Amino acid sequence: MDRQLMLFACFLLLVSSTQAIGVKYCDKKKNYAVTIQQVKIIPDPVVTGKPATFNISAVTGQAVYGGKVVINVAYFGVPVHQETRDVCEEVSCPIAAGDFVLSHTQTLPSFTPPGSYTLKMTMEDKNNEELTCFSFNFKIGFHSLVSDS
Ligand SMILES: *[C@@H]1O[C@H](CO)[C@@H](O)[C@H](O)[C@H]1NC(C)=O
Repeated sequence: MDRQLMLFACFLLLVSSTQAIGVKYCDKKKNYAVTIQQVKIIPDPVVTGKPATFNISAVTGQAVYGGKVVINVAYFGVPVHQETRDVCEEVSCPIAAGDFVLSHTQTLPSFTPPGSYTLKMTMEDKNNEELTCFSFNFKIGFHSLVSDS
C-alpha cells in the first residue's frame, strides 16, 4: 500500500476510535432485531438544563410500524430520569428494514450534577416485543456561564 494512504488510514482509525461511544447490550446472548451502529451525543459533554440530543444509528432486521422507547438515565447507578416515548416521535414511521437514525432529544433537570451518566434505552414494537435494549455512558459538563450570553 502507498505510504501516504497507509498514514491516512491510521489517522482515520485513530480519529474514529477516540470518538466511538461504547454500547453495551442488556443481554449479550440475545439476538436483538435492532442492532446499534453508532451513538452521537450533541453536545458532548451534555450541558445541564439545556437540550441534549442522542442520535442513534441502528439497523433493523424487520420493518417497525410503531411501539415505544423507554429511556432510563442513571447517575452512579442511581436512576435520575425515566421516560417513555412513542417510537414514531423519535424516528419517522414506518421504519423499513435496514438503516435508520433514532434521534432522542431531552433536557435534563438543571439540578443534575456534572459527572458520568448511563443512559439505557429499550425499544419495543407494537406487541411489546423487545426489539433492542442497550446502554452507553455520557458526560454532563459544568454549566458554562460564557455560553449563556
Ligand atoms: C441527528 O439526527 C437528526 C434526525 O435524523 C438530524 O436531523 C441531525 O442532523 C442529526 N445530528 C447530527 C449531529 O448527526
